Amino acid sequence: MENKELIKLALEAKVNSSYTPYSKFRVGAAVEMEDGEVYTGGNIEVASYSPTNCAERTAIFKAVSDGKRKIEKIAITGDAKDTYPCGVCRQVIREFGINPKIIIANSEEDYKEYTLEELLPHSFGPEDLQRGNENV
Ligand code: THU
Repeated sequence: MENKELIKLALEAKVNSSYTPYSKFRVGAAVEMEDGEVYTGGNIEVASYSPTNCAERTAIFKAVSDGKRKIEKIAITGDAKDTYPCGVCRQVIREFGINPKIIIANSEEDYKEYTLEELLPHSFGPEDLQRGNENV
């Protein structure tokens, strides 16, 4: 899918899928998996705060729950200019992305594209766990 189209879906998810009664800070995400399937999500807040789920994880977990495992690209948009994924979401993207493109979007025309390595350098992932287990 073209970046523009994915961003449009993230912008729509921000408005239609987020539940943010506490922070009033909306975030939307649209993730394209390697088979071309697209999943969207918004951030979902909970009164006790810590169970809050970010938009990125909502979208990714919908995909994973549907049996999808590899992220091709993800578009993220929030109420602040240049809303970047939090550390937890970067790690979740790491889990399910081989070399995912991460698009930080303000509009369909105004966006930046990053690699995971740029946003989460020297990361820990499933392969490291595997390597560790081989030494036991
Ligand atoms: N939020 C996201 O949805 N994604 C991020 O990567 C950053 C933070 C949400 C969580 C919470 O609902 C609100 O933004 C304020 O932190």
